[in-house]
Amino acid sequence: MKIFLDTANIEEIKKGVAYGVVDGVTTNPSLLAKENKGFIPLIEEILSIVPGPVSVEVTATEADEMVKQAREYAKISENVVIKVPINFEGLKVVKTLADLDIKTNVTLIFSTSQALLAAKAGATYVSPFVGRIDDISGNGMALVEDIMQIYDNYTFDTEVIVASVRHPLHFVHAAMMGAHIATIPFSTLSKLLDHPLTDIGIQRFLEDWKKVKK
Ligand code: G3P
Repeated sequence: MKIFLDTANIEEIKKGVAYGVVDGVTTNPSLLAKENKGFIPLIEEILSIVPGPVSVEVTATEADEMVKQAREYAKISENVVIKVPINFEGLKVVKTLADLDIKTNVTLIFSTSQALLAAKAGATYVSPFVGRIDDISGNGMALVEDIMQIYDNYTFDTEVIVASVRHPLHFVHAAMMGAHIATIPFSTLSKLLDHPLTDIGIQRFLEDWKKVKK
């Protein structure tokens, strides 16, 4: 399973890439707003650090305007993936961008029917928001399982990015379901590695090493 970092924070991205486990980055307007930096320079900086796809979201609401924004962003780098919201305008954009060979990440997916239509329109990726479904007492990972099943039934090439990840179990279940990608906040990446027995073990080995005759 590929790991994308769901952040626009340069320090977090640098750390994740240095760990050798980050395959890409996803951003959205809310994540960009936290950084208080110029939008295009920030995206360019992220692209210069990350050796893979970087999702950048369009913010227009009409298809023609969204395509215009998408074409501008896609010019920056071939690693730019255009994030498009799932609605009828968004579907038109996905189809147009697929014809132009521009990759898309269809976002705000909350149902299997949305994921099926996005794939039919030619989406490169879809992003089911599992945490936000759990927040309203739904089952976000069950949605991922259903989408994987549907894509498998019809051999769609669209890849599933498990998004709105809140904790390591989301990540582990995504891998068990064979999801293609999990996009995770940096805080979750840290939690994936933490284990008290590892910390105790390292401490004990270091103490015993002091007692070894050298
Ligand atoms: O990738 C989607 C993600 O940014 C949404 O996460 O935590 O705002 O639901 P969250």
